[in-house]
Amino acid sequence: MEGEEYVMNAAEQVASKRNAGYRAAGAVEDGMVVGLGTGSTVFFAMERLGERMAREGLSIAGVPTSYQAAIRARRYGIGLTSLDEHPELDIAIDGADQVDPALRLIKGRGAALLREKCVCDAAKKVLIVVDPTKMVDTLNAPVPVEVLPFALAPVSRRLAALGADPVLREGVKKDGPIVTDNGNFILDCDFKAIADPGRLEAEMASIPGVLECGLFSAYGEKITVIVGEEKGCSVVSLQ
Ligand code: 5RP
Repeated sequence: MEGEEYVMNAAEQVASKRNAGYRAAGAVEDGMVVGLGTGSTVFFAMERLGERMAREGLSIAGVPTSYQAAIRARRYGIGLTSLDEHPELDIAIDGADQVDPALRLIKGRGAALLREKCVCDAAKKVLIVVDPTKMVDTLNAPVPVEVLPFALAPVSRRLAALGADPVLREGVKKDGPIVTDNGNFILDCDFKAIADPGRLEAEMASIPGVLECGLFSAYGEKITVIVGEEKGCSVVSLQ
């Protein structure tokens, strides 16, 4: 799985995501408050949670990490709550763009990284659902950074000084920059191979105007990664 790029066709990738999502949904217990991540793999977890609610009478509440997650959760009949009501969550289920062997992550392709990190931090246990293409030896994808529009220019300079070439994320079917669910911009920052994700995360967090970055380097101990495959799943944790 590691050391070389994992290639899948689209049908295999969908099957892998479905298997990962369904396995994660199977770990949710009655009465739990569940952080609901954003993206196509978490959709499958929500779909299965909806089925379990209808079939088994499973009763849960979800804290969505985005408008997308909230809309999808409602469609599956998952009742919503908030971090105000539940500052500690029993479990969170989320996707990732890259995962390294220490279970450090890059997230934020869907621009939901700020709320995703709040939910990850609040959860006792985090299930990361991915297909095998996400597993890498070294994190090297562009890191999304959520930036206060007021501070776009100085933050861009500071990120460039850290070695990135920040690119303002543009909308699709919308002219100009995308605006996150929190009203901010996203800078995609390509640092190439990231030798020390924890240090880079701390450096970015110290820049005024950076609301959050998509490096998740501090949660390996509570993360379980469910890697969906075409048939079945493998499970990775540090325990
Ligand atoms: C959104 C995210 C997603 O969880 C991540 O991009 C994975 O998405 P998908 O499951 O669609 O591959 O971080 O901000």
